[in-house]
Amino acid sequence: MTKNELKILPTHLGIIIDGNGRWAKMRGLSRSQGHMAGFKNLEVIVKECFYKYNIPHVSIYAFSTENWKRPKKEVDYLIKILREYLDDNFSVKYPNVKLNIMGDYTKFPEDLVIKATATIEETKNNTKFILNLGINYGGRDELLYAINNIIKKEITEVDANILENHLYTKGQPPLDFLIRTSGEQRLSNFMLWQVAYAEFYFPKVHWPAFKKKDLLEALQTYQNRDRRFGAIKE
Ligand code: IPE
Ligand code: IPE
Ligand code: MG
Repeated sequence: MTKNELKILPTHLGIIIDGNGRWAKMRGLSRSQGHMAGFKNLEVIVKECFYKYNIPHVSIYAFSTENWKRPKKEVDYLIKILREYLDDNFSVKYPNVKLNIMGDYTKFPEDLVIKATATIEETKNNTKFILNLGINYGGRDELLYAINNIIKKEITEVDANILENHLYTKGQPPLDFLIRTSGEQRLSNFMLWQVAYAEFYFPKVHWPAFKKKDLLEALQTYQNRDRRFGAIKE
């Protein structure tokens, strides 16, 4: 099946990029080399989502609130890679993409914060695609951040609309499809609110080895899912 035969595509696709470490270990490489390969692959796959499949909202889990528990050396390396990912070339790499960071990124070193803020500013008027990048992101943290901001406004009764307007994904549709590579079948605190009716897909392949053909296969699977949202088909 080719892309032209894909009739139903997700509007909002999430990816939990897992397995960089295991991919490296299998090859006798360091975990850092695994992350390096993972981020290279991220660029390729995200571009494919936007420019080949025209998926308007893509959410990536790149660094969780729990990932600070990893050895300092690994955390430092991940920060180095994030810095490169968010470099001045971002808008060249991703034309028409608005960068939206999910998570309190001010906890990262100052130069990364400056870079991220500049890239957000530079891309803010792009309307075709949105890349939601989860860094220091946790779904529970996001809900607390939303609730606390609502309280600050002295709003006393909250409905779904108000809550959604205080999430990092404000104004965006919920997740339709969530891919987590490497075989683990858990959310690890990713987009707890937005995932409510998403379809899940857990390929065994480790993230650096998840190629364009794997994305196509995932999207083919998605279009054959029967989404009912609690209703029945008459
Ligand atoms: C995912 O790969 C990348 C990040 C969490 C940043 P892992 O580093 O979790 O790889 P495994 O799960 O140890 O193989
Ligand atoms: C989830 O992967 C976080 C990211 C992909 C950024 P982890 O590898 O950290 O998750 P666990 O520890 O296996 O649940
Ligand atoms: Mg992992």
